[in-house]
Amino acid sequence: MSSWRQYDEYSASTTPIVVHLCNHTGMRTSDAGPHMGRDMTFDSLAVHAGRDDLAALGVHAAPIDLSTTNPLPDIDSGGMSYESMATGGHPTDGGYVYQRLWNPTVARFEEGLAALEGTDEAVAFASGMAAVTASVLTAASTGPGRHVVAVRPLYGGTDHILDTGLLGTEVSYCDAHEVASTIRPDTCLVMLETPANPTLELVDLAAVVAAAGTVPVLVDNTFATPVLQNPAAFGVALVLHSATKYLGGHGDALGGVVACSAEWAVKLRSVRAITGAILHPLGGYLLHRGLATLPLRVRAAQDTAARLADWLATVPAVRKTYYPGLADCDPEGLIGSQMRGPGAMISIDLAGGFAAAVQMTKSVQLFTHAVSLGGVDSLVQHPAALTHRPVAPEARPGAGIIRISVGLESFEDLQRDLARALGV
Ligand SMILES: Cc1ncc(COP(=O)(O)O)c(C=O)c1O
Repeated sequence: MSSWRQYDEYSASTTPIVVHLCNHTGMRTSDAGPHMGRDMTFDSLAVHAGRDDLAALGVHAAPIDLSTTNPLPDIDSGGMSYESMATGGHPTDGGYVYQRLWNPTVARFEEGLAALEGTDEAVAFASGMAAVTASVLTAASTGPGRHVVAVRPLYGGTDHILDTGLLGTEVSYCDAHEVASTIRPDTCLVMLETPANPTLELVDLAAVVAAAGTVPVLVDNTFATPVLQNPAAFGVALVLHSATKYLGGHGDALGGVVACSAEWAVKLRSVRAITGAILHPLGGYLLHRGLATLPLRVRAAQDTAARLADWLATVPAVRKTYYPGLADCDPEGLIGSQMRGPGAMISIDLAGGFAAAVQMTKSVQLFTHAVSLGGVDSLVQHPAALTHRPVAPEARPGAGIIRISVGLESFEDLQRDLARALGV
């Protein structure tokens, strides 16, 4: 086991993060609100970001604004606000106009997530795949061409949308160390995940950003969450989350979000408005609420996952255990430098191959056999048959691989369930 525990403790307790940005109304409020402009640790920020004006509103819980349309003060100011938001800006005095352009409940979640990722802004979408779609469309329509460099492995849906060319892009897949040689004059985006879905490969972000040069890099930070990794600190332009996973954390809200600079946010919001991909306000509320407990959930699940991974690595029925906290899964020593901990996702390659995977997924009782991840309850699933089914055969995960999302149940109960299911 590497030195990640020590690093994580340091980071969780002492690192101050400056709250910045604008509030949910869309108006710049650098000098407003009790938390604005103050240094706060990450954990305090998770609880408070995006909530600065609640006391002034006389409420304690964030209000949910379900309005699809908004009363207009007059034609001129309404039209001005429309123009501002349709071109990716914030609402002006004319108000929010229409939910596809802006929603204050969604904007609260965006403000909270941007604060945790340390970016200027964040833009929220109806799903992680809607966020991927908008990011690729934005890069392709504003960059030098429509070529995308994608580091495999990627989530199956992301791999698939690039492979189909549905967004008018051309993709070249490569390994992390091949990024520089794969980039072409018409490359508009480099995309990667770290830890990657499903086999948890880690990618050195600083190295990829340097290799990409002027080409923007998008990192899917779903598995790490901002608790464990802030890709923007390494020069990554677009930090994407399937918010459906850890950010929400309870398996009851679908969403996606991209944390980025103000300049990228303008472009992304414009694409979001045109394509109609904004997150629903109920989702915005639930995802924002999820941020408050994110640090506690991620660290608790991580502690259990680390113990389970250590044990799984000794089980004869398991050919290989993939977990970034195991030394052989982190050859570059990125846990403790780039990441503040190895996270709570594990994959195992079963010695008995597909037949063993069928048996194991049938046998679990406390784990749920289901796709998705990052929730309070633990899940197992077979990537090759499900989440990564659309991936080209040569890049698809092996038939014996099972992905495990460790939740908040006790180590003892989860270990007992896995041991029974693996016939230990
Ligand atoms: C790493 C990763 N990115 C993106 C997505 C897509 O997100 P969503 O299912 O919210 O559209 C997923 C979904 O599983 C994922 O695991």
